[in-house]
Amino acid sequence: MEQITVALGARSYGVKIARNLLESAAEEIRQVCPCEKLALVSDETVFPLYGQDLAKRLETAGYAVSVYSLPPGERIKNLVTLDARYRWLAGEGFTRADAVVALGGGVVGDLAGFAAATMFRGMSLIQIPTTLIAQLDSSVGGKTAVDLPEGKNLVGAFYQPSLVLIDPDCLNTLPRRQFSSGAAEAVKMGFVANPSLLTELEKAEPDWEKVIAAALGAKAALVTRDERDTGARHVLNFGHTLGHVYEAAGGYDRWLHGEAVAAGMMKMLAVEEQQGLQVDAVRKRLMTLLQQYDLPLSIPCTAEQYRRYLPLDKKCHDSLVTLVQVTEDGHARLTDLPLSTLMTYLET
Ligand SMILES: NC(=O)c1ccc[n+]([C@@H]2O[C@H](COP(=O)([O-])OP(=O)(O)OC[C@H]3O[C@@H](n4cnc5c(N)ncnc54)[C@H](O)[C@@H]3O)[C@@H](O)[C@H]2O)c1
Ligand SMILES: [Zn+2]
Repeated sequence: MEQITVALGARSYGVKIARNLLESAAEEIRQVCPCEKLALVSDETVFPLYGQDLAKRLETAGYAVSVYSLPPGERIKNLVTLDARYRWLAGEGFTRADAVVALGGGVVGDLAGFAAATMFRGMSLIQIPTTLIAQLDSSVGGKTAVDLPEGKNLVGAFYQPSLVLIDPDCLNTLPRRQFSSGAAEAVKMGFVANPSLLTELEKAEPDWEKVIAAALGAKAALVTRDERDTGARHVLNFGHTLGHVYEAAGGYDRWLHGEAVAAGMMKMLAVEEQQGLQVDAVRKRLMTLLQQYDLPLSIPCTAEQYRRYLPLDKKCHDSLVTLVQVTEDGHARLTDLPLSTLMTYLET
């Protein structure tokens, strides 16, 4: 088993990664949750695959388990679903002493996480991520949120879980496209923080347990330095400023997050090149990796779409955009650029 500690003083927690971990999840949860009741939140795809067995095991371990299963997909990550979740928690007799278990991808994790952060001013939260994106990124770091019609993740909280349990065997049922989307985040992490990840990802059959542990190890270190995303943690946004534009321009259902990030990383290198930076080596390695995982190298986007969706990005302030730029494997730097300058680079 791989183990990582996210060191945040009183809010520190463990991340455990092992094949078959779901079988001993109840005992793992017992060690951090002395409560009586658990709210198991999942979605209608994941629950029949992994939730039913998990619920039985949690009951055998002595918990009273209530299940809330959501329709799958980003569309339910909103305030209406959240309101229904709050009322369900209240109606089922939960208290602040009880815990929420989020079993699913990033959508379930973000929504159940925000509900746990806010219900009764904070219930304990256990993350059991089942997509690659959630396993190597979103389940760790404490970002929880729901979307508004005005934009993604606009209402949320930083709220750390008490425990993260990762079973890479869950990835066996993940559709290939979803898997690739997660691989894009692993590639990103390799370029901004840990080039050994790139070497593992370049293998014909990467060891995913290793990939997840390396990506989360790098993320945990950044979260420890910058829990609330005001400095060091920004490097995780490589490819994301433009990726968010592609996601928005595609109406959020045309491109998966990792696909948009893949094209966003490539386009950012084109911007860097226009600024006079040398990016040939990074571009070659990035391109080969994106192709290996069937990820797009570019996404069509008009100047009007860039203009329309860029200023919505949370990293734009006073018409300066903070860009994450990579010129060497494993090293990222932050650059502030006037929005108008960035637009001229993007339009050419
Ligand atoms: N909090 C963070 O730091 C953070 C970071 C990155 C992304 N996110 C958020 O995460 C969300 C995207 O997460 P996602 O890509 O996991 O999407 P998702 O949760 O919608 O899952 C994708 C699809 O895969 C299905 N699925 C999940 N696990 C499965 C499995 N093991 N086998 C078969 N099918 C499975 C789901 O039912 C869903 O249909 C977005 O809302 C994004 O904003 C949050
Ligand atoms: Zn991302």
